[in-house]
Amino acid sequence: MKLFLVFLLYGTALSVGLRRRGLRSIAGSADPMPEGRPTRVLIVGATGGTGRQLVEQALARGYVVTALARDPSALRVEHPRLTVVQGNVLDYPSVEAAVRDQDAVLSALGHKQFFRPTRTLSEGTRNVLRAMETHRVRRFVCETTLGIGDSAGRMGLYYTFFVIPVILPFYFWDKTRQERLIAASGLNWVVVRPGALTNGAKRGRYRHGRTVGSLLWTVRISRADVADFMLNQMSDNTYLRAASGVCW
Ligand SMILES: NC(=O)c1ccc[n+]([C@@H]2O[C@H](COP(=O)([O-])OP(=O)(O)OC[C@H]3O[C@@H](n4cnc5c(N)ncnc54)[C@H](OP(=O)(O)O)[C@@H]3O)[C@@H](O)[C@H]2O)c1
Repeated sequence: MKLFLVFLLYGTALSVGLRRRGLRSIAGSADPMPEGRPTRVLIVGATGGTGRQLVEQALARGYVVTALARDPSALRVEHPRLTVVQGNVLDYPSVEAAVRDQDAVLSALGHKQFFRPTRTLSEGTRNVLRAMETHRVRRFVCETTLGIGDSAGRMGLYYTFFVIPVILPFYFWDKTRQERLIAASGLNWVVVRPGALTNGAKRGRYRHGRTVGSLLWTVRISRADVADFMLNQMSDNTYLRAASGVCW
């Protein structure tokens, strides 16, 4: 019983912290910069679950795609409009070289080092933002997660009181840093916050917006549908300079 209460208090306190520390969505756009329809897109985290979906779906939509990968041989996709470049988000020169000449950047950056404090997401994103500002690449669509900022608690009870406090506290804390860096940039950014990810098929139907998610149940969505929503944000200004949740 005592242990249960400790979890309840810790989970609640962490959620409050993640809410305060994370990004609060700004309704609507703040003076959107005029820009043409992007055609050349850099995908960060391209070898990951969402990243692969982004690569395949971006190619299917006709974009000219550059994939940033620590190990280019890991992507195993070949296409005449795909270039795979070797790079690491923590290595600024490799990021800068990849960002040059792009129209937009999509990020599905993630890692599995859950049990120690890390800054890969925030420092890697800082490098991406810096390179984008240097090369005047304006559009940035970044995958983070439900459960931070004004979506705190919206991953459902299991995540709020177990997964986030026990397994992912450092990871989620770094995600709040990542979102704040994005929000402080002068770019045309969209933060995409999915529920728990699955490898299921693309449905093409999902909920999105500032209030999606559930305080009770774990909400889910496939990586394929997240990629679909992220690609839509390349040319849709509904959530410009704001964060949108997305789940089935
Ligand atoms: N799993 C969930 O239920 C869930 C729910 C909500 C949100 N999310 C978030 O959604 C995002 C995508 O998740 P996912 O599971 O689809 O992705 P993932 O499979 O974890 O892939 C992460 C990608 O980031 C890359 N990466 C990691 N460190 C890097 C570095 N230093 N430089 C360059 N690339 C690096 C990885 O490359 P390597 O192949 O070289 O490792 C990989 O391509 C993550 O931020 C995750 O936290 C996940």
